Amino acid sequence: MNMRTKEFTLPEAEAQARAAAQAGTEWWRSAVIYQIYPRSFADSDGDGIGDLPGITSRLPYLARLGIDAIWLSPFYRSPQADAGYDVADYRAVDPLFGTLGDFEHMRHQAHALGMKVIVDLVPNHTSDEHAWFQAALQSPPGSAERARYLFRDGSGPHGDLPPNNWKSVFGGEAWSRAPGDSQWYLHLFDRKQPDLKWDHPEVRAEFEDVLRFWLDRGVDGFRVDVAHGLIKAPGLPDWSGQAAMVEGTSDDSGSSGNAGPMWDQEGVHEIYRGWRRLLDTYPGERMMVAEAWIAPQARLVRYIRGDEMQQAFNFDYLLAHWDAAEIRAVVDSSLAASASVGAPTTWVMSNHDSVRHTSRYGLREPGSRPKGIDAAGEQPDEALGLRRARAAALLTLALPGSAYIYQGEELGLPEHTTLEARYRQDPAFFRTQGAEIGRDGCRVPLPWQAEAPSFGFGPGEKSWLPQPDNFARYAVDQQDDVSGSTLELYRELLRLRRDYALGSGQLQWHAVHSPDALIFDNGRLRAVINLGMQPIALPQGALLISSEPLEAPGELPGNTAAWLKLE
Ligand code: NOJ
Repeated sequence: MNMRTKEFTLPEAEAQARAAAQAGTEWWRSAVIYQIYPRSFADSDGDGIGDLPGITSRLPYLARLGIDAIWLSPFYRSPQADAGYDVADYRAVDPLFGTLGDFEHMRHQAHALGMKVIVDLVPNHTSDEHAWFQAALQSPPGSAERARYLFRDGSGPHGDLPPNNWKSVFGGEAWSRAPGDSQWYLHLFDRKQPDLKWDHPEVRAEFEDVLRFWLDRGVDGFRVDVAHGLIKAPGLPDWSGQAAMVEGTSDDSGSSGNAGPMWDQEGVHEIYRGWRRLLDTYPGERMMVAEAWIAPQARLVRYIRGDEMQQAFNFDYLLAHWDAAEIRAVVDSSLAASASVGAPTTWVMSNHDSVRHTSRYGLREPGSRPKGIDAAGEQPDEALGLRRARAAALLTLALPGSAYIYQGEELGLPEHTTLEARYRQDPAFFRTQGAEIGRDGCRVPLPWQAEAPSFGFGPGEKSWLPQPDNFARYAVDQQDDVSGSTLELYRELLRLRRDYALGSGQLQWHAVHSPDALIFDNGRLRAVINLGMQPIALPQGALLISSEPLEAPGELPGNTAAWLKLE
């Protein structure tokens, strides 16, 4: 492997101290968790797709960043119809990403560096190339093989209409006809992602076994995909509300992800209670985080009651606009909702399903969440978006609870907003005939070196999605040890966050004189965020760090944040 950037070593004592601090303390409550999208993180073999050895080679970089855990999006055997969220074998590593041995090595190295490892679990649907679905297709209607999925006869006089009116989250009908067959099968996502029938005992037993498989391999937790979708209302009744849940491809409405007979059914909770019991039989502290796009928060936190999962992604926070009142309201409602069940809150700004927040904050309506951006659409103001994203880092990382960082966020990486249609791979782009631009723009391989082919993503030119020219400016080697760079900003923020124990602290708001300002204390630290364009007066306190240089004493410029030390 040819990874040419400097390798960092973390002093062993620091790694041990971090591991010790995490031990026995419900580490997830305050953890900073870094999302790795394996196909775009680091490519060791030059095929243009990131892989597990690539991740291993960059673990020292992540340890130096100062995160507590990594979460890996799926790397399992898969035809990659939805970038791995279509799993054909839950116990195998796809050769694209390496081998099980590579995973074990990666996991071992991560632990040695004091970082926990969370893997993705995709229980709502399998790939259509999964052995179970293949067997179902080869078996007649009514067979035991079909009972693990949601096969139904069609409607209409000839059965040639879908069984109900449900739509796929990715566009089009949620039903496809089994090839050469009278029956249809349900897929809330792509037709290559048939939904499992979670009332079936074999499905339940299988997933408990899959959990055990990865727990036995030392993983510290699971990110549960589509956690609110596993159980469907009996009879699969028609539903004429909003066609799809608020998901990766949704619009900006932020509405009603829980509505409809396919989402947030009561029966999901007993599944998670069972999984929790299973996780608790393992030594160490294993956790689950729910991906559940549901509203309101009172519904969401039912997934993180004491005997269910430990965390849920806070998408209300991701959906908030760059607006002080809106952010404050979301922070308050999030803290109150999670406190009501004794769980930690999470803070998420970006992931592999959303336009990167650096670019969202550079739009005319900052923070709005389009379904991808292409060359024909509004182009974000790159400098303004970055400036706001840096300020947002001081906001997010000062909040009590657990914070998620999406790979590249620590570089201030923007969305690829001019990716040509011919490169697009997101099934939502195809299923909507391009009406949805899709999620490829936030999934572009990371730049590690400005001057290297593929910006150092791999040893050669190949990169599964082309990288835009402006990625050169954001490359790790352009920021490493460069004072004022976004990477150094994140490193310093994460160090201070640990020193001041912000993750396990408490938030106390202060009155502000500007409608664009947010000021709160967390222990001995005061965070001041100016979301407006005009400078505001900086309150008392010794300056620890600011997202931009402060030009006038006592003044915080627009779209800038600062952390002050309280005596
Ligand atoms: C949520 C995942 O984050 C997304 O990438 C995927 O397309 C859907 N679930 C379906 O698995």
